[in-house]
Parts: sequence; structure tokens; C-alpha cells
Amino acid sequence: TELEMDLDQIELGPYPHYMLKEIMEQPETLRTCLRGRIDRRDGRVILGGLAQHTRLLARAQRIILTGQGTAFHAGLIGEYLLEDLAKIPARVQYASEFRYRNPIIEDGSIIIPISQSGETADTLSALREARDRGAFALGVVNTVGSTIARETDAGVYLHVGPEIGVASTKAFLGQVAVLTLISLYVGRRRFLAEADVARYLEALDQIPDHINTITQQSDRIRDVVEQVIDRDNWLFLGRGFNYPVALEGALKLKEISYIHAEGMPAAEMKHGPIALIDQGMPVVFVATRGSQYEKVISNIEEVRSRGGRILAVASEGDTNIARYADFVFEVPDVPEPLQPLVTVIPLQLLAYHAAVLRGHDVDKPRNLAKSVTVE
Ligand code: G6P
Repeated sequence: TELEMDLDQIELGPYPHYMLKEIMEQPETLRTCLRGRIDRRDGRVILGGLAQHTRLLARAQRIILTGQGTAFHAGLIGEYLLEDLAKIPARVQYASEFRYRNPIIEDGSIIIPISQSGETADTLSALREARDRGAFALGVVNTVGSTIARETDAGVYLHVGPEIGVASTKAFLGQVAVLTLISLYVGRRRFLAEADVARYLEALDQIPDHINTITQQSDRIRDVVEQVIDRDNWLFLGRGFNYPVALEGALKLKEISYIHAEGMPAAEMKHGPIALIDQGMPVVFVATRGSQYEKVISNIEEVRSRGGRILAVASEGDTNIARYADFVFEVPDVPEPLQPLVTVIPLQLLAYHAAVLRGHDVDKPRNLAKSVTVE
């Protein structure tokens, strides 16, 4: 209706789509998510929702993260974060699979359901199943008062505001930020040194500004995408903390541009999918500085020698990468566990521009619903 169109106009401001608005506003969104949760003077994480459960969390034997779609990818990053920073064995599972595999819940098991809407049927039934079997449930949810939020024992809200775009962007960022905070919070009560927590918090505090420098590259990302937009098969590759980012980059592209894309660990590519690579196939690498940088470079060479076109997300000032990649998108340097918070941004913009260039309605992708309330 005309009224709805006027309201959209007001809400959207200068942006043509909600998805772009939500991508571009992420610096401010992340600031809101982090507000009041970082005490930089004392190097502490403040999470009111966890305060009563500190002992239980510090003694956790096993953490199961669960969710669907983008939330699952955030959960995979959470798995890496919890093991690296809090030294607790952690595994992410698709909620739909976890629920029906007769899951083992031992003493000291914690389930972390991750959900933007808080209403996803698969995630809700996984949560109920785990609680019935005795797990303590810690929710990572955006929608205040939603069913999943109400049925958990404790929780940390994302506080990223309502997400309108069907393809999730800012909620993913919020989920990863909250899982980082939880990992630091629990880690500090286990083996993580105060100085390390302080260092991570300082870096986390700067991420909103970093995201700003990345979103400013939007036009350039569009120009690069235009050069490969005729290709119908893409690969997204990354290692370590950036492997889940590769999965998320591929999902974004599929959801709104309907281009076939696969994400996987960069090393897995040579165990089969390398057969797909032909002249000009776009292959997106997350190749930022870190412990596996050299390994990623060799993976890039494997693709390049078979004719793939390399789009690399790389660290600012990396002059070496230009020798291997056809196109480079720079992101500021941050400690490895925090890298997904910056490396995902160019991939969101890439998917957005691909969909617009192909003439699709970005905010209303075919066949998708914002939240899926049937199993
Ligand atoms: C749907 C949406 C996805 C979303 C998933 C989980 O499939 O299309 O974008 O990631 O549900 O949603 P949730 O609200 O639980 O995060």
C-alpha cells in the first residue's frame, strides 16, 4: 500500500534496501551490542545475564552450540572461540540434526541456542530436548521475550535491533560478538590471563571503527563483482576462524543472488572440489595475516594454477598478496579470534552487489522466510 511505501521511505533513509542499510549501519549496531559490556579500565567483560551462573559456567565440561543457517555459522565460530579462549570442549550442531540423534548430555553440559528471531522451530526443539536431558541452557538471541529467550536458563541478548533484511547480516555480527564476550567472560574465570582479556577487549572496542573503513569500500567491491557477475559457480575458502566466514559468504551469495556457491575449509578444496575449478571460476579466499597465512597462500596458488580467478580478503598493508590475487579487499589487522568480525563485511557487500547486479529483490529473496517456524 501507499502508506507502507511511505513508511519504508522513512525507515530506509538514503539506502535502496534494508539489507544495505543493515550492512552499512553495523559500526553503530556493534557499538550498541558492546555498550556497557566492556570495562576497559579493569579489563573485564560485564554480562549481567551470566552473573548468577559464573561458577556453573567456569566448571562446564562441554558446550553444545546449536542453530540453523547463519546462526549455525556463528555457532561454528563460537566453537573455535570457546575452545581457544575458554578451553572448554565445544561443538556446534545443526539443531535439526541434534534433536533426533538421541544426543548424549552429561553432567556439566551447556547448550547455547543461537537465534536472531528466537522462534526457529528446529532450534527451539533442540533446546527443549537438551534441557529435558539435563543441560543448562544459555541463549544467544536477538528478539527480546521470544520463545527461545524465555525457555533458556540464562542468556545474552544481541541488542542489534530488529533485522528486516531476510539475509542476515547485523545479527550474525552480533552473534559472533556476543559469543566472543561469553568466551572471554568464561575464559577469564578459567585459564585466560587478565592481560590477555584486556588486550582482546581493547581490540574489540576498535572493531566498529574498522568496519567503517571496510564499508567505505562498497563501490569498489561492486566494481569487482561486476567483472565476474556472469559466473554461476563460486567457491569461498578460509582456514581457522575464517573457515566459518567462508561458509557464511557462500550462504549470503546463494540466498540473494541465486548464484551457486560453496564454502569450505581451504585445505579441503584439494580433496575433491578442486575438480570444479575451470578458467575464470571466481574463488573467494579469506587470507588475512595469522598463523595459517602461508598455508592459505599455497591454497591460492593451487587454484590459480588451474585458472581460477582469485578474490582475496586480506590484511591492510599486505603487499605480498597482490602477487597471487586478481582482486584484493583490505581489512584492518585484528587478533585472529576477532577476525570474523571484520572479514565477513566484504563478503556481505559482495553478495549484496551481486544480487543487485543480477536484478533481484534483495530484501525479498525467492523461497526464503525471515524465520522458519516449522520443523
Ligand atoms: C531462516 C533464515 C536464515 C536464518 C535462519 C535461522 O532460514 O532465512 O537467514 O539464518 O532461519 O534464523 P534465526 O532467527 O533462528 O537466527
